[in-house]
Amino acid sequence: MLGIEHPIIQGGMQWVGLAELASAVSNAGGLGILTGLTQPTPEDLQKEIARCREMTDKPFAVNLTILPTIKPVPYEEYAQAIVDSGVMIVETAGRNPEPFLPLFKAAGIKVIHKCTSIRHSLKAERIGCDMVSVDGFECAGHPGEDDVTNMILLPLAARRLNIPFLASGGLGDGRGLAAALAMGADGINMGTRFMATREAPIHDKVKQKMVEASELDTALIYRTLNNTARVFKNSIAEKVLEIEAQEGPTRFEDIRPLVQGTKGRELFDDGNLDKGIWSAGMIVGLIDDIPSCEELITRIVAEAEEIISQRLGQMLSA
Ligand SMILES: Cc1cc2nc3c(=O)[nH]c(=O)nc-3n(C[C@H](O)[C@H](O)[C@H](O)COP(=O)(O)O)c2cc1C
Repeated sequence: MLGIEHPIIQGGMQWVGLAELASAVSNAGGLGILTGLTQPTPEDLQKEIARCREMTDKPFAVNLTILPTIKPVPYEEYAQAIVDSGVMIVETAGRNPEPFLPLFKAAGIKVIHKCTSIRHSLKAERIGCDMVSVDGFECAGHPGEDDVTNMILLPLAARRLNIPFLASGGLGDGRGLAAALAMGADGINMGTRFMATREAPIHDKVKQKMVEASELDTALIYRTLNNTARVFKNSIAEKVLEIEAQEGPTRFEDIRPLVQGTKGRELFDDGNLDKGIWSAGMIVGLIDDIPSCEELITRIVAEAEEIISQRLGQMLSA
């Protein structure tokens, strides 16, 4: 459906999903995704799409994250920019993408909707999405409020969905890919693992920190605001948690200075790891190198193939 060689997708990542990373993933046979809202205007997104096209002749997608923001975002204009640029795959996330589907469908675009529950996956299927990405509790960014891990979500998705689906969250190696396929997924979507690659356009200190980190180094912030986000557990995330632990309802005003998006972006640029917050998933515990996207994808596929043909094959023949 996506015209790619390997069933490995690089999910949209704010400030990280630039042409360097997306094209590297696509050139390696996966599907790279540009993050729409990382570009300040729809015109800039069109330029970034053109830049990516110069770097790869393989398919790539654009992520459109529809979330309530402090500053209003002209989502329709971003969607139109995607269509006008001739991109054929869109990853939507954050909210029900229904208002954008007529535009995308008329242009023949395949829509992958990323969601964190079975009920939202079924809704996505019902409204005409082509594929869903099922984001388990392990994932970086917004895992929702249900706290259901992929061990449960994926088999449920396999039982209930009729459209293809990707496993997302907590994936980063061949064991994960083989397990996701075994649980019924048609491929995997990875965010955190792709941050620790040579082509990810972020400071080396961030990548090194991920290599050093364990599976215990993420934190769930904004729980008290019903908008949970899994981020790297740095001093800023801990301060946010302290504020959230105070008695009474949390006021976003008290947190806002700590979590401004611009600080997160600066952190990725200058490597000052405690400047702001940054999304990271539990898979950091399984990251111990910084390969190129080509090396990473080739290795994941080879590991998964070996597990399926050797380890699992031997169990059958034994
Ligand atoms: C730094 C970072 C930024 C992200 N930004 C977005 C975003 O803007 N929109 C979105 O839909 N998902 C975003 N995600 C989530 C990823 O697309 C993906 O669903 C998630 O990382 C999967 O979990 P994993 O990190 O365990 O692989 C982000 C993830 C990371 C690590």
